[in-house]
Amino acid sequence: MAKSRKSGDSEEQQATAVDLIALLTPPGCDGLYEGEVVMPDADFDFDQLAAAAPEPEPAEAKKPVGPATGKPVSPTAKPGQPTTPAKMRPPPTSAEEYETLARASAPSSFRASATPAAPSGEKPGSARLQPLAEIPGDTLDKVAAEIAECTRCDLCKTRNKTVPGVGNPKARLVFIGEAPGADEDASGVPFVGRAGQHLDKILAAAGFKREEIYICNILKCRPPGNRNPTLSEMLVCTPFLQRQLRLIEPKLIGCLGNVAIKFVIGPDSPGITRIHGQWFTSIFGVPAMAMYHPSYLIRDTSREKGSPNWQMWQDIQALKKRYDELG
Ligand code: URA
Repeated sequence: MAKSRKSGDSEEQQATAVDLIALLTPPGCDGLYEGEVVMPDADFDFDQLAAAAPEPEPAEAKKPVGPATGKPVSPTAKPGQPTTPAKMRPPPTSAEEYETLARASAPSSFRASATPAAPSGEKPGSARLQPLAEIPGDTLDKVAAEIAECTRCDLCKTRNKTVPGVGNPKARLVFIGEAPGADEDASGVPFVGRAGQHLDKILAAAGFKREEIYICNILKCRPPGNRNPTLSEMLVCTPFLQRQLRLIEPKLIGCLGNVAIKFVIGPDSPGITRIHGQWFTSIFGVPAMAMYHPSYLIRDTSREKGSPNWQMWQDIQALKKRYDELG
């Protein structure tokens, strides 16, 4: 499985990263997450679709909502299926709990590596996800301020800016990507590079306004060379994501790409080409749709029926439909 690896990470971290890539990359999806993105010559027709999209309704002043109640969404739920509010399952509060969730049906190869290696310089075991206690008076600004000061892993040594997330603090829909790239590292804003511009077009084509949603990543700092996040980086960073989701209380999540899918939906989830467009109950208890990562989509120039961009167009419309049904 050929993956570019250009970081200055320790050998231990490199080994963890390599293992994780092997585990997270489904057969037939080699190269999806390499750092370099080759842009197609021609742009695509999401522009035309965006131009033709009806003007989105003005975002309603949204009342703060408490944890949703009801039945969890079945992993086999089809796009467009009527929304059943998901029960807000508390996010995993420890590495052990995450492993228990992961272990439910994870392949044995993932299980073997589910306990992360500690990032260099930290005591073994300290890389584990800590219990996520109530934080009185917590706000997204506080989370962002803590992320800006964070030194929980070695990515703090190579980052320029931290990238906490952006958007509506009470968004009903949160998109979760993988990790900042070079443009995001320079700006501190997620999805502003070429992949982000592609995502913007897709969102606009479907009738979403960027300011009505929230966009963030699993990792808040850029992995050098855009390598894949290591499991230990994800485990030390995702308490920030847990806090963000607890504060935002989204009704729906869009998981962009395999890394987000494997963390948010579960390490046993099949590859993106099989499950894109399907709804799952995420580890946060919120229904999550598995979606292609825009970096992958800009590498495929085809707009033919059945192509990844065509599939994304079906998926984003299904997501929009369900979003509109939230009322
Ligand atoms: N890719 C991601 O996953 N996130 C970003 O913010 C940018 C590119």
